Amino acid sequence: MLQDQITQYTAEINSFDTTSAEELEQFRIRFLGTKGIIKDIFDEFKAVSPEEKRTLGKVLNEFKQLAEAKYQSLNESIADSGIKTEDSKLDMTLPGEGFEVGARHPLALVRREIIEIFNKLGFSVAEGPEIEDDWHNFSALNFPEEHPARDMQDTFFIQKGGEKGDIALRTHTSSVQVRMMEAGQPPFRALMPGRVYRNEAISARAHCFFHQVEGLYVDENVSFADLKQTLFYFVQELYGEGTKVRFRPSYFPFTEPSAEMDISCTICKGAGCQMCKYSGWVEILGCGMVDPNVLENCGIDSKKYSGFAFGMGIERIANLKFEIKDLRLFSENDVRFLKQYKTAII
Ligand code: PHE
Repeated sequence: MLQDQITQYTAEINSFDTTSAEELEQFRIRFLGTKGIIKDIFDEFKAVSPEEKRTLGKVLNEFKQLAEAKYQSLNESIADSGIKTEDSKLDMTLPGEGFEVGARHPLALVRREIIEIFNKLGFSVAEGPEIEDDWHNFSALNFPEEHPARDMQDTFFIQKGGEKGDIALRTHTSSVQVRMMEAGQPPFRALMPGRVYRNEAISARAHCFFHQVEGLYVDENVSFADLKQTLFYFVQELYGEGTKVRFRPSYFPFTEPSAEMDISCTICKGAGCQMCKYSGWVEILGCGMVDPNVLENCGIDSKKYSGFAFGMGIERIANLKFEIKDLRLFSENDVRFLKQYKTAII
């Protein structure tokens, strides 16, 4: 009886193997514990006949030694492996793992700089949807229906002739000016930064989307002189004192009179280079006095109030700041390009 049990447990002990300290502890309790198998067997041994005791005594002692030896050797190998993995994980002499710190996109940097300059003049920031209806993108801004002025901005239409007229991706953020004026009464002094879309073939100089910052100032007695002074201040802040400006007459349906503003080339300082096509001047924005029709369309008394508006492409402003010659770089997300503006983080 006892002999059979010992044979069975011996097989169990011999085949037992583990790398887990927890399992080994279970093993110890089962065989070597104070209420364990070996203790039981020794208790039973007391009851056997003296003849049996002689042979069984030896077997029992060997069995006990086997269990103890197994426990000890497994215990050592578990302890060893613990030290080894710790060792190989922790080599204090290795150099630390470097990790890349992200950087702001050059367009985000320029947008922020523009906003900060106008903040000093009391301009806040307004935003609006990129998917617009005909009214906010065109009609309220004095683009008559079927008028060729609509072709100035090749539009991506989403839906033709819906309940609210055509639905399109906004072609400029002037739509946000309309929304702002509709929602309240003057004075308004705000910037409208955002992404705009035009159906143009993608090249180094054109893209089907780009970013704008437009501005609007409406109050009593706002004049063209205010417009000029505001934009002059902006350019001095952005490109440095001494940067010259000039205004050329232009046409926009929503401003009257309208102008385009050039600055003296920031790259060659007027001497002539590729950027300014050897003219010494580069165009950076469109502007003008808000057409009274637009004010009236938005529920504002055009006899009492007047205002100016302007709009610029952030990509263009960034090109002049960073001398980036290919527009496509801005949207390709090539880290080799983006990395170069890390130092520009303010
Ligand atoms: N909305 C014009 C454009 O996208 C820019 C502009 C804004 C011009 C305000 C004049 C006044 O081209």
